[in-house]
Amino acid sequence: KIIATAAIRGAHKIVGRAEESLRQALETYGPDAPVAFPNTGYYLPVIYGMTGMVVEKVGDLVPVLERAKALLPPVPSEKVWLPYLGPALDAGMATLFADEIIEAIKYLGTPPYTMTSKPTDDNLWLGAADDVILRKRGIEFVDGTAPGFAAVVGAAPTNEIAVKIARELQEKNLYVFMSAETDGRSFAEQLAEEGVELGWETRLVPFGKDITATVFSLGFAARAAMSFGGVKPGDFRRVLLYNKNRIFAFVIALGYVDDEKYAQAAGAINFGFPTIADTDIPQILPTGICTYEHVVSNVPHDKIVSRAIEVRGLKITVTKVPVPVAYGPAFEGESVRKGDMHVEFGGQRTPAFELVRMRDAAEVEDGKIEVIGPDVDTVPEGGRLPLGIVVDVYGRKMQEDFEPVLERRIHYFINYAQGVWHMGQRDINWLRISKAAFKQGFRLRHFGDILYAKMKSEFASILDRVQVTIYTDEAKVLEMREEARRIYAHRDERLKALSDDTVDTFYSCTLCQSFAPTHVCVVLPERVGLCGSVSWLDAKASYEINPHGCNQPVPKKDVIDPVKGQWQSCNDFIFQNSRGTIERVNFYTIMEYPLTSCGCFEAIIVMLPECNGFMIVNREHAGMTPCGMTFSTLAGMIGGGVQTPGFMGIGKAYLASKKFIIADGGLARIVWMPKDFKEQMRHVLEERAEELGLGRDFLDKIADETVGVTAEEILPFLEEKGHPALTMDPLL
Ligand code: SF4
Ligand code: NI
Ligand code: NI
Repeated sequence: KIIATAAIRGAHKIVGRAEESLRQALETYGPDAPVAFPNTGYYLPVIYGMTGMVVEKVGDLVPVLERAKALLPPVPSEKVWLPYLGPALDAGMATLFADEIIEAIKYLGTPPYTMTSKPTDDNLWLGAADDVILRKRGIEFVDGTAPGFAAVVGAAPTNEIAVKIARELQEKNLYVFMSAETDGRSFAEQLAEEGVELGWETRLVPFGKDITATVFSLGFAARAAMSFGGVKPGDFRRVLLYNKNRIFAFVIALGYVDDEKYAQAAGAINFGFPTIADTDIPQILPTGICTYEHVVSNVPHDKIVSRAIEVRGLKITVTKVPVPVAYGPAFEGESVRKGDMHVEFGGQRTPAFELVRMRDAAEVEDGKIEVIGPDVDTVPEGGRLPLGIVVDVYGRKMQEDFEPVLERRIHYFINYAQGVWHMGQRDINWLRISKAAFKQGFRLRHFGDILYAKMKSEFASILDRVQVTIYTDEAKVLEMREEARRIYAHRDERLKALSDDTVDTFYSCTLCQSFAPTHVCVVLPERVGLCGSVSWLDAKASYEINPHGCNQPVPKKDVIDPVKGQWQSCNDFIFQNSRGTIERVNFYTIMEYPLTSCGCFEAIIVMLPECNGFMIVNREHAGMTPCGMTFSTLAGMIGGGVQTPGFMGIGKAYLASKKFIIADGGLARIVWMPKDFKEQMRHVLEERAEELGLGRDFLDKIADETVGVTAEEILPFLEEKGHPALTMDPLL
């Protein structure tokens, strides 16, 4: 029987490596050189989460290294069972600190990573996830869309086995974080060689080939605890508990496990993540100490995923969709390139559309799926067909207003099928079926099978009957597209008429209370939730679907201030639902009792008193802004469900709303926004500016980072352009 010796020995080796890297970095760059993982507010996240130590300069790594060394137990001289877990765990933690030191130093020179969300042509390895990725993917761990992650270390004996394991993990909706190698081979390279699409979008994330890149998995977990769990940096007990209880992760070790890998496994055990291996590896500690095994040896490859899930105690429910290809959210991000496609539809090449329409009971036959026109086996490889997808639904609780909510789900439901790709919506949709999916037997009726199964399972409470018709006969597609266009136009009319003033109910969203316990989003017809993904109609529909869920009606009664947008009934609702912390909210101003922010905002508005206006920065923008803070710093300051006058998180679409901060002067107050963001919004903002009488060229009066990133730098520009904010009523 062997023991923790290997882990402790490995920890000594990695800490030794860190010491040498740090010595060289101090020599080459000096102690004041800035050091960081890209675009994050969590510094080196494991170190920050565990110790609260902030690393910003190379010199800051020195005390961290000391800390790691202090944790290192002496290497036991004999192979004996250690009486308790402590020494191995400490060695594991020291390893993670050393990993982060080594990885951080890599970013000093030319980083060996792409720093993008998927591999580039000449680099497979992504490195640390930035905060944009963390936020986007992390929420899936919180809301259950992703039940957890597998950190795969090493390489499978063959590429085929690697692909099988990866697919199985994807089908279970798990993220797959990959690092390290076995004899020069790595799991990620094996997948890439087999043409598997890697990146955050497909949940197959190649972190790095070095063993130390394993720490990016634990860093992701530590940041989840701090950002979603509200755990304070340095509160190591709670960081670890949060992970043990909420992040269902495990390590799959493929191939020979050397000392350094043991050391990583010991680090992961601190987080409550067990290691499942395909080789014979000794226990790190005696079994029976903990509620589940920490290390499981010699698991055959076809059992390794299910065994890991079982050991970690994960319950995964997957709706079975009767299609001949793999199906699940992990396949959503896969694209089907032109050379790989069997057939495509729409995309301005053939007429196409998709439609969900509410019908009477007699007009919908539940479960009926019909294909009208030629199937995909009649077209030559690389061919095209027209396509109409009509989903007829009936339900006693269905409302016409929910049609677009259901219709938007078509995009996701279809994309979840492996080898099937969907883009756009309505009559500008574009779909492809890959050669591989076609060979596996994917045919048109499977669109129907997918939509039927998913609509019925996700909207069970509002849909009693669902029928799907797929048209490919060109004349028929054109005829039905006219019908669809009539319905779209009718909907748009209704949407336009929908305004804050004409409804008597707003809706709340408290989904984010799991990590911002006092935060309440109130979603108005003219103000989308600050994450950008919950509209008033979405919230209304989801209330009908689940009356006990996180979207509740907020009555709009007893107006207190019609200009700033304050109602007594809304105050009452927010007070009750914020655990008594927020007493009043104005919907139309940032300056006084503004809405609170959780952490999911797509953009942040900040007052710039020197310019008598506001700046807006979007999450994607990493650079400095005129308020003296980057997005990450701002986000850390305003999140968590507190009111911060002068600052507010918003959804991007709110910018174009007629009600956009109207009590503060509206769009005319915007004096700075990042260039890319401006371009992204140009079309809608130009229209809106024209309606407001600001002129179509108003956008060009808004400064951006090319003009400057301080108030002093942008003021002369605003003056030269005659920006309206400068002559408006003083904000303060
Ligand atoms: Fe809901 Fe607001 Fe969170 Fe979006 S940000 S999910 S609207 S609580
Ligand atoms: Ni998501
Ligand atoms: Ni949120």
